[in-house]
Amino acid sequence: MIAWLRARLWPFAAGMLAAAALLAIGTGALWAGLALVLATAIITRFVVFQETMLPQTSMPPDDLSVILPLPVRLLLGEFPAPVMLLDARQRVLFVNDAMRAFTGPGSERKPVSAVLRNPELLDAIASAARGEAAAPVSFSQPVPMERHYQAYLARVNDAPPVLALLLHDLTAIRIGERMRADFVANASHELRTPLAAVTGFIDTLRGHARDDEKAREEFLEIMSVQVGRMRRLIDDLLSLSRIEQNEHVPPVDRLALADILKEAASGLMPLARSAAVAIVVEAAPDAGAIIGARDELIQLFQNLIQNAIKYGKEGGHVWVGLAEAPGGQWAASVRDDGEGIPADALARLTERFYRVDVKRSRERGGTGLGLAIVKHIVGRHRGKLRIESRLGEGSSFTVLFPPAENPAKEPESAAVTQVL
Ligand SMILES: Nc1ncnc2c1ncn2[C@@H]1O[C@H](COP(=O)(O)OP(=O)(O)OP(=O)(O)O)[C@@H](O)[C@H]1O
Ligand SMILES: [Mg+2]
Repeated sequence: MIAWLRARLWPFAAGMLAAAALLAIGTGALWAGLALVLATAIITRFVVFQETMLPQTSMPPDDLSVILPLPVRLLLGEFPAPVMLLDARQRVLFVNDAMRAFTGPGSERKPVSAVLRNPELLDAIASAARGEAAAPVSFSQPVPMERHYQAYLARVNDAPPVLALLLHDLTAIRIGERMRADFVANASHELRTPLAAVTGFIDTLRGHARDDEKAREEFLEIMSVQVGRMRRLIDDLLSLSRIEQNEHVPPVDRLALADILKEAASGLMPLARSAAVAIVVEAAPDAGAIIGARDELIQLFQNLIQNAIKYGKEGGHVWVGLAEAPGGQWAASVRDDGEGIPADALARLTERFYRVDVKRSRERGGTGLGLAIVKHIVGRHRGKLRIESRLGEGSSFTVLFPPAENPAKEPESAAVTQVL
């Protein structure tokens, strides 16, 4: 704006000066004065002309419509990947919404070095601005949350020069790679421990315990427990991978959640009895019409009820409930009156091999995969898992299921309490 005024007001100012000089000198110098005005006008015109001829090195964002027609600007604005346009002086001309979420607000017109902090990225921008071909740059941002990006740079306009920066978010891929590596490391570690125990006992039985019948019986018993642990781990790993493979295929069977809950609870009666736990199922017959996969749902609720028995109060209760939730959803819950789960552990419970108390879980034959399996089954059913817990009071795991469009049978209104 200031440059525009300077360019346009300069001739007037020069003309006024010339006129003033003319008046001061008197009418005798009329021709000289006219020549002065003419010269001023010519010089001014030349300067203005020069300015329009010179390549513009920066373009105020107001003039962005010249290089970025409205439809393109709208498209880039909604584009899910972060995009930034820079002028030849590496000042920000344009950022889309995704880039604004990355840089924070108010980055337009600022030098890019005040907006982006990563040195490798800034070096790449500088070389691209010099016209050098730029290879994609990988960089990470540690705060506020660790994120990984690949940056692509390209000159998209020559006069005026405009540089485009596009970021590709690699965070999910990097986290996936790390999780896969951790998973293999964890799975082999979990298998190595019982395997080492079994190998050790085989050596002992071959050696000094060869003729000790009492020791042999004792060792064989421990070996059988360890082998059972390995078998459970392999079964859980296989079932996790099967569920993961099917996760994108929606289930098709029309089921009543009430039947599933009762069947899951009945299967765990022997375990509940040995821990002196009473399982209370509160679900009206045939209630909870959903579309689901029967075996997976039984596994889901067995994992939850088994946890409630294992980590609940000895001699306590496990409540299994079913209720209607807003929007025709069904909420199936498993609640215990055990010692509860610390708040900082809640978010990690569904991670593979995560256990609040590793020793206690192992003692109870746990592999640390139960809730990871639950999460994937819930995912396949397009449901939601809600975990609530208070230390010293107990924990509650609720699964919200979307309604089946046309429930085969309307649920009965009164809930029926059944103590198994
Ligand atoms: N109802 C609960 N009360 C208290 N802690 C729980 C409860 N349910 C789960 N946990 C904690 O969450 C951890 C993870 O549970 P998860 O079911 O995934 O594994 P696990 O029970 O140890 O082994 P698995 O289920 O594979 O036999 C458990 O080790 C336990 O520490
Ligand atoms: Mg479990």
